[in-house]
Amino acid sequence: MQGLYAIEGNLAFAPALGELTTIPRGYIIVEDGIVRDVCKRLPSGLSPEVISYGDAIITPSFCDLHLHAPQFPMLGTGMDLQLLEWLSTYTFPLEARFVDTAYAQRVYRKLARALVRRGTTRVCMFSSIHREATLVLMRELERAGITGYVGKVNMDRNGPKDVLESTEQSVEETRRFLDECGQYAHLKPLLTPRFVPSCTDALMQQLGDIAREYPDVRIQSHLSENMEEIAWVKELSPDCAQYWQVYEKFGLFKPHTLMAHCVYSDEAERAAMKRAGVWVVHCPDSNTNVASGIAPIRKMLQEGMQVAMGSDIAGGAKLSMTDVAAEAIRVSKLRWLFSDKKEDFLTVAEAFYLITTAGQAYFGAQPGFGEGEPLHAVVFDDSRFVHEPKKSLQERLERLIYLSNPSDIIAVYSEGKKAAL
Ligand code: GUN
Ligand code: FE
Repeated sequence: MQGLYAIEGNLAFAPALGELTTIPRGYIIVEDGIVRDVCKRLPSGLSPEVISYGDAIITPSFCDLHLHAPQFPMLGTGMDLQLLEWLSTYTFPLEARFVDTAYAQRVYRKLARALVRRGTTRVCMFSSIHREATLVLMRELERAGITGYVGKVNMDRNGPKDVLESTEQSVEETRRFLDECGQYAHLKPLLTPRFVPSCTDALMQQLGDIAREYPDVRIQSHLSENMEEIAWVKELSPDCAQYWQVYEKFGLFKPHTLMAHCVYSDEAERAAMKRAGVWVVHCPDSNTNVASGIAPIRKMLQEGMQVAMGSDIAGGAKLSMTDVAAEAIRVSKLRWLFSDKKEDFLTVAEAFYLITTAGQAYFGAQPGFGEGEPLHAVVFDDSRFVHEPKKSLQERLERLIYLSNPSDIIAVYSEGKKAAL
């Protein structure tokens, strides 16, 4: 929306880890899509058009920093296997279908819409190995109003023929992808070596060369998700004492590199990540579904690591980041129990921080509604719930994290524009 306007409602945001700010019946003043002020009252002398959402709750929209777009058709199925068998039985055969760009377009249009419907406006996403389908994915995300980063996946070993590329092809297609994706205003490319078992040293080496050539292009991959996977990486890279060292050896372990999972990252691996400026993406729903384990998220936060959250569909079955936040809290309570109550569990305010402020920081955005930045916000109508006895805004936010569904979302703003739901 152009011009000056204000949206009115109950505002809630996480200024820092564990902190929650609420502004009952407050205003976000927006000019040409940019947040000018977040306030309790409209300043005198200013008379913007007011879009009132009444008693609804307005929060920053959500960030999903790890998900696999081509796995959307298998959402909620195939949960009876662990990671490596799950990949070869269900995931790779499905991803092979994305050689068909018409199929990709149908799936990705639905995915983009499903994300907006759930209030997710910023993403870091894996596509498949297919360059053309990856460009289709970016087009569909952009059309729906979603912003962020998308990677064409690299894989040149340990999979069926139809999801593998030769090393040369993989490098060539990645370079073409980087050249061709400049047309999207709000979506940028990422380098995406799938994980060590999928990429030969020669491929990793050349992706490292590309990373040096394009220092602004970020990297995403997987790290220490599952015990069998970790043992396999040791066999494949006997010269590296720890999993992370394979990425580091090839220049792929850098500031802003995203590593999904890190369930079994020990103190040394965590320290290496912190030193390198690498981000952990915690994917609790996926880690439970494919029985990987429970990541030491409390320790990571205490150690000052950069942590954000991902749905990791379709290992994760929940696309909604409020659901993922609730899962993070639940599994952290199991970890608390199994650690003899030594590792604290996550609070609601912390989980809310991880799906908003932490993710926003990855995109260079400030906490909350980010004054001076394009508006990213989601509006929840929670009137279907029982509000007597009277609930505080904190309690209402907690309930949205545990119980909201997409039909509670009545408006989503992304990059300063109202998105079509
Ligand atoms: N490791 C390598 N590929 C994948 C994937 O598609 N999903 C998950 N959860 N882990 C992976
Ligand atoms: Fe993943």
